[in-house]
Amino acid sequence: MTTSTTALRNLAIEVLKENDQGTYTVPTKGLYPFQWNWDSCLTALGQAHFDEARAWAEIETLFEHQWPDGMVPHIVFHVWSDGYFPGPDVWDTKRPTATSGITQPAVAGFAVRRLFERASDRKLAEEKVRVLLPKIDKWHRWFYRYRDPRSEGLVAILHPWESGRDNSVDWDEAFERVPTDGIAAYTRRDTQHADPAHRPTKAQYDRYLWLVEKFRSLNWDNSKLHDASPFQVIDPGFNAILIRACADLAELADSIGEPEIAAENRARAERGIAALEALWSDDHGLYLCKDRTTGRLIDSASLGGLLPAFAEVPHERAAAIARTIENWSSQVEYVVPSQDPSDPRFEPKRYWRGPVWLVTNYMIADGLAARGEMAVADLIARSSLRLITRSGFAEYYDPITAEPCGGGRFTWTAAMVLEFLSAERE
Ligand code: GLC
Repeated sequence: MTTSTTALRNLAIEVLKENDQGTYTVPTKGLYPFQWNWDSCLTALGQAHFDEARAWAEIETLFEHQWPDGMVPHIVFHVWSDGYFPGPDVWDTKRPTATSGITQPAVAGFAVRRLFERASDRKLAEEKVRVLLPKIDKWHRWFYRYRDPRSEGLVAILHPWESGRDNSVDWDEAFERVPTDGIAAYTRRDTQHADPAHRPTKAQYDRYLWLVEKFRSLNWDNSKLHDASPFQVIDPGFNAILIRACADLAELADSIGEPEIAAENRARAERGIAALEALWSDDHGLYLCKDRTTGRLIDSASLGGLLPAFAEVPHERAAAIARTIENWSSQVEYVVPSQDPSDPRFEPKRYWRGPVWLVTNYMIADGLAARGEMAVADLIARSSLRLITRSGFAEYYDPITAEPCGGGRFTWTAAMVLEFLSAERE
């Protein structure tokens, strides 16, 4: 390792330790004072580079708050804090420890397999996997049961926050169908911690809240939520992460002798890959979201359509995604922007409508490298590390100027830096 990579590694570890609350890690102090689902799973990959036991604990803590029906919530409100809105009182999910009532991208299966395969403490890893495997399987089953009620092979998100790409252009059209009348008065907290020009708009926030209040009025009963929601979107990125997690869980199950869990998850992944085909767009060179309430594809070329490179989509699809990224990269300085830069709706500083995020970079690069698209995988890794060196461990970055946006000293950004650095060493 050169001095500069050693320094970068140490800085990344410092950010992870600073946000560590003992058994879970906050995404960043102030802006996000609780545990977030996919943040934690990706954070564990970073923690494993210096403390394997701590990495397992991160995921274990998350799964301690799994709902009886199998859902793993997107936020666990371990301790009280008024720094974030909407807090536990708004969700009112009546769980022993307060949680939100929606979920997030199912990256756990992928993360756990990666932790397991790299573990130097084999005994500990096997012990942890035996406990986590059935829980992750239960979550996967929950997805297909409650979010794919007519067995199409792909699951819908019912709230933009579930996608992890909160204010993506992908949701604009479907969001027009979500009303805003009758919502309780509220004060946002995010815009007190970060520049409002980098955050979702008030019109979007009203609709986020309307959906929360609607689901709360149904007592968070997942057998009712899907059909009652005016927002049901099939996000190819969200599905690809779930498909990859199913495939990884199947491998993991095989390696510890759980053939039934292996077979079920392999079947989920195979059906998902086949069903994704209907979302492919030759015009854009990526997959599109589908609005389940209208049955139509949504014309928005975003990161969500590139993320299927993370799953085992057909070879020509992964190659076409790599070409699309090359094309986008000729229009911006840093990849991968969260929206096609030639789209008039592209906004380089606004959250998921243009900025680069290291977590999605990591997943896309991982998938492309596995498919032999080394040049584009390298381009993404180099872009990611250049951003950090220039602008520090931010939440997200302007793909044109590298301006750090959103929160600072961000946990999963630091975790991904450790991952990119260790891949570079290999
Ligand atoms: C934002 C992001 C989401 C992330 C959360 C915590 O809501 O859109 O993906 O999980 O912040 O970092």
